[in-house]
Amino acid sequence: MAVHNCVERDLQGWGVTDHPPDHPPDFFDRADPGPDAQFYAPDRFVTHIDPGAIAAVGALYEELGLGDPGRAGGDVLDLMSSWVSHFRVAPARLVALGMNANELAANPQAASWLVHDLNVDPVLPFADASFDAATCCVSVDYLTRPVEVFREVARVLRPGGAFAVTISNRCFPTKAIRAWLHTGDAGHVDIVDGYFRAAGGFTEPVAQLRTPPESRGDPLWAVWATREA
Ligand SMILES: C[S@@+](CC[C@H](N)C(=O)[O-])C[C@H]1O[C@@H](n2cnc3c(N)ncnc32)[C@H](O)[C@@H]1O
Repeated sequence: MAVHNCVERDLQGWGVTDHPPDHPPDFFDRADPGPDAQFYAPDRFVTHIDPGAIAAVGALYEELGLGDPGRAGGDVLDLMSSWVSHFRVAPARLVALGMNANELAANPQAASWLVHDLNVDPVLPFADASFDAATCCVSVDYLTRPVEVFREVARVLRPGGAFAVTISNRCFPTKAIRAWLHTGDAGHVDIVDGYFRAAGGFTEPVAQLRTPPESRGDPLWAVWATREA
């Protein structure tokens, strides 16, 4: 399955720049409304962003101290994961959650993994305050119930724990939500920022372009916030 660049249009009609508490009904429509389990059944041992963007993800995690027991803490949940989690140094305990068992089982940084469809069930099968950090790399555009998922992330994070969401400009277009396909980089950042705000339980989100502005490679944006005390 090819990974295409997302189409850039404007935000008119969705009002995402206003961080609405309620998203319009067609915001989360997808060209392929079929089961994610079917779409993600074939193994894809590929990287979804280029080496520069991958390095930017690792640098962000290291800067935030994610997975480091001496800094932000060692218990990390990687949401929408696959065979790579992009940490420069593997967290003390990484739980990888995704859709493809073969990919997850091959993740060398994961201490454990589980297949869990967040669009079918956004409830995370973990106790309250059981992780020091959570990550979601180049995948948030596939969530059809993101506010519920972000609320769940806040629940399973310990106070002060960061949720780092990274995004680029490639996607599986039939599985990305309609609003994502109709917006560009700034709109994508706004969408994720809005998810944090709508979910509640997080501090003010921070958004940054993590790859050099002049880079010709895949851009890597990060939006993160920490669990309120
Ligand atoms: C573009 S890949 C990114 C994988 C990985 N995060 C990375 O950085 O290489 C999208 C990932 O989202 C996961 N995913 C897609 N839909 C999902 C869903 N409904 N629930 C959980 N994970 C999902 C897939 O398993 C897939 O691994």
